Amino acid sequence: MTEILRPPDIARAAQLLRSGALVAFPTETVYGLGGDATNDRAVAAIFAAKGRPSFNPLIVHVPVVEAAESLVAFDERARALAGAYWPGPLTLVLRRRANCPVSLLASAGLDSLAVRAPSHPVAQELLRAAGRPIAAPSANRSGRLSPTAAAHVVAELDGRIAAVLDAGPSEVGVESTVLDLTGTQPTLLRPGAVTAEELAERLGPLAAAEDATIRSPGMMASHYAPALPLRLDATSSRPGEALLGFGAAPDASLNLSPTGDLVEAAANLFAHLRALDRPDFAAIAVMPIPARGLGVAINDRLRRAAAER
Ligand code: TXA
Ligand code: MG
Repeated sequence: MTEILRPPDIARAAQLLRSGALVAFPTETVYGLGGDATNDRAVAAIFAAKGRPSFNPLIVHVPVVEAAESLVAFDERARALAGAYWPGPLTLVLRRRANCPVSLLASAGLDSLAVRAPSHPVAQELLRAAGRPIAAPSANRSGRLSPTAAAHVVAELDGRIAAVLDAGPSEVGVESTVLDLTGTQPTLLRPGAVTAEELAERLGPLAAAEDATIRSPGMMASHYAPALPLRLDATSSRPGEALLGFGAAPDASLNLSPTGDLVEAAANLFAHLRALDRPDFAAIAVMPIPARGLGVAINDRLRRAAAER
């Protein structure tokens, strides 16, 4: 059985991580499935617990930029972005340093490594207490919705991981923006709370992520999927369908944000999809979400959840 820990138990969670055990923990985006990134067996256990294809690399979490600089080669762009957005929901893909202590499994055979410093205070405290980089994909079974609450983690991974550190719901609700800086032109591999427009303002035009599927298998078309089919851009539900609303929607089964607030909608996205993913519905109809700001990331996750599988 997976142990449920609370923020006062952070020292115990850190001790479990140091001993090679897996601990799910809260971040501001979604819950992560943490393991010691420098321990090959712990990293292998992450892939096993999730049922994740081993060609899909993991994000390594650190509390501060200095800790990341000892793992990967930072250039001026990376330094400026980390200065502006860390700690926060931006993941940078950079080249591994020659003496990088992170398990090669976490890079899935690539010469790059994804790094991020999460801003959630519990994640910050845990990473400092663990005292080593922590590999953490989203704490769901591979291909399923990311968890935004400890209960979601328990529902999918109970008995497969040592503990879950429960600190309430995740604030942002969609996974971090992933930006690849290994090439001359930065490439957006996954949209998130740090928007492409913001990044382009600092970096100039971003490269199109057409081939991002290969570089970032998390970009596979069908991903983040509930069991039920999804019908997007629905204005009303058909018989048997649940209706996931956005904005004014008196008939909605659940509403991402009755006031049409994209930040609130992102925070509710995965929890509402989970709640409606029930066998008594035939499908989930989702009302249109405007494609600006966080709406880009929300629509990205909805398209993947709706994709043929
Ligand atoms: O918000 C988040 O990023 C959460 C929390 C827990 O931090 N983590 C998360 O991890 O979403 P995961 O493993 O579910 O997604 C990581 C994404 C995947 O799309 C993966 O393919 C990509 O990052 N990625 C990781 N390392 C990479 C690398 N070296 N090169 C390219 N893409 C990489
Ligand atoms: Mg994931």
